[in-house]
Amino acid sequence: MKVDLKKYQGKGYGKLALIEMIKWIKDKFPQCEEVRLTVFPDNYVARKLYKSYGFVATGQIFGGEEVFKLVLSKIPLQDIGD
Ligand SMILES: CC(C)(COP(=O)(O)OP(=O)(O)OC[C@H]1O[C@@H](n2cnc3c(N)ncnc32)[C@H](O)[C@@H]1OP(=O)(O)O)[C@@H](O)C(=O)NCCC(=O)NCCS
Repeated sequence: MKVDLKKYQGKGYGKLALIEMIKWIKDKFPQCEEVRLTVFPDNYVARKLYKSYGFVATGQIFGGEEVFKLVLSKIPLQDIGD
C-alpha cells in the first residue's frame, strides 16, 4: 500500500484505504480466513498502522520484509468502522 505523494501522507488516507480493503475482502470473499501483507522492519509508520487494525507479525520474512497477518474472524466489521 502506498500514499504516493508525501504531501498527502499523514492525512488519514492510508488508514481509510486499509479499512476499505479489509471490508472489501470480507464482503467479496466471506470464506477468506486471513489477510497477509509484508512490511520492511524499519517502516515504523506502516507497522503501527497495520498493528492498530489487528495485524500481527508471523515471524516469517518474504523478500526482506516481515510478514504480518490479520485473522478476519477476530475482527467484527464494526471494529473497522462499518
Ligand atoms: C504507510 C502509509 C501507507 C500510511 O498512510 P498515511 O495516509 O500516510 O497514514 P495515515 O494518515 O492514515 O495515518 C495512519 C497512522 O500513522 C500515523 N502517521 C502517519 N504518518 C506518520 C509519520 N510521518 N510519523 C509518525 N506517524 C505517522 C498517523 O498518526 C496514524 O496513527 P494514529 O491512527 O495513531 O493517529 C503511507 O505513509 C505511505 O504510503 N508511505 C510510503 C509507502 C509505504 O511505506 N507503504 C507501506 C508499505 S508496507
